[in-house]
Amino acid sequence: MDKIQTLRILVVSQKGGVGKSTLSANLAAWYSEYSNRNTVLVDLDPHGSSSSWIKNARDCGVFHEHFVANSFSERRWLIDSRNKIRKHFGKFETLVCDLTWTAAMDPEFMHEFDLVIVPSSVSSIELNATMKFLDSIKWVFEARAGIPPTLLICPSRVLDDQLTQDPFSKENFLMPFLLLPPILDDPEIRTLFKEKFIFDFHRPSASAFLKCASSVQQAGDLHKKMNSKTRLKFSDRRVLDTNNTKLSRYMSQKTVKPLSETSKNNYKSYFRPKKPRIINKKISSLMKMLSSSIVQK
Ligand SMILES: Nc1ncnc2c1ncn2[C@@H]1O[C@H](COP(=O)(O)OP(=O)(O)O)[C@@H](O)[C@H]1O
Ligand SMILES: [Mg+2]
Repeated sequence: MDKIQTLRILVVSQKGGVGKSTLSANLAAWYSEYSNRNTVLVDLDPHGSSSSWIKNARDCGVFHEHFVANSFSERRWLIDSRNKIRKHFGKFETLVCDLTWTAAMDPEFMHEFDLVIVPSSVSSIELNATMKFLDSIKWVFEARAGIPPTLLICPSRVLDDQLTQDPFSKENFLMPFLLLPPILDDPEIRTLFKEKFIFDFHRPSASAFLKCASSVQQAGDLHKKMNSKTRLKFSDRRVLDTNNTKLSRYMSQKTVKPLSETSKNNYKSYFRPKKPRIINKKISSLMKMLSSSIVQK
């Protein structure tokens, strides 16, 4: 029997309260019920909100697991967390992983995934923090060896008046990404915790969520299609395992110093040439388009 190709999705950000666990739990439930995929949720967050949501809510058929790796070293954390998720590869069609990022984690972990979703509020201050976070891990999306994950930014907990703003034109994101349709801020979502799912009710936030979830699915299909010819060779895996870890330690140093010529030469070979930056105008009009389609609902 052919092994199942698991679509691996990581929902991650360094900030709490942006809606990672809400998105993880609901996305996993959506994949299971709407998309009819055999789905596992791996909750790597100490709070365990997404797994306890799935565990206690009405049965949606999602297999769930809560695991907090010992993070006394980046390497230890990486090995333990990676083992935890790798055992599901080939067994489930979709894997959703919920994670709050800390400096004690090794960004190499992100190479386990096809899609990395970063939810972010759209206020300037929040977008700035998201930008800084992405900047510290941007090498992940530019790594030469292996297949880098596709980065998806998800405007999260978006308020009505923010739908008409155009926040992505003001900020400069330095790496290529896809912008997801926004998740709306809706106080009703709080009442669903451990009970139901966002798509269980008929509200604008539910239709916005459905759009977001199907965009994630499309991005997953696109990622698979684009990389279907690239096989992750064992030698590539070794390059990722040995070199990116050194690199990630280098990059995660607290004080960001300009690269010296020697270190530039050391690390240069693992980077792809810079891709052209996504033009802000395009993002703005996309954001407007998405926003207006939701406002019309
Ligand atoms: N779209 C939303 N609208 C309103 N409240 C939300 C929304 N998403 C999450 N929340 C609430 O915000 C709080 C934090 O959400 P959570 O998903 O736990 O964030 P994180 O996992 O990023 O810390 C929770 O109380 C949750 O109910
Ligand atoms: Mg959480």
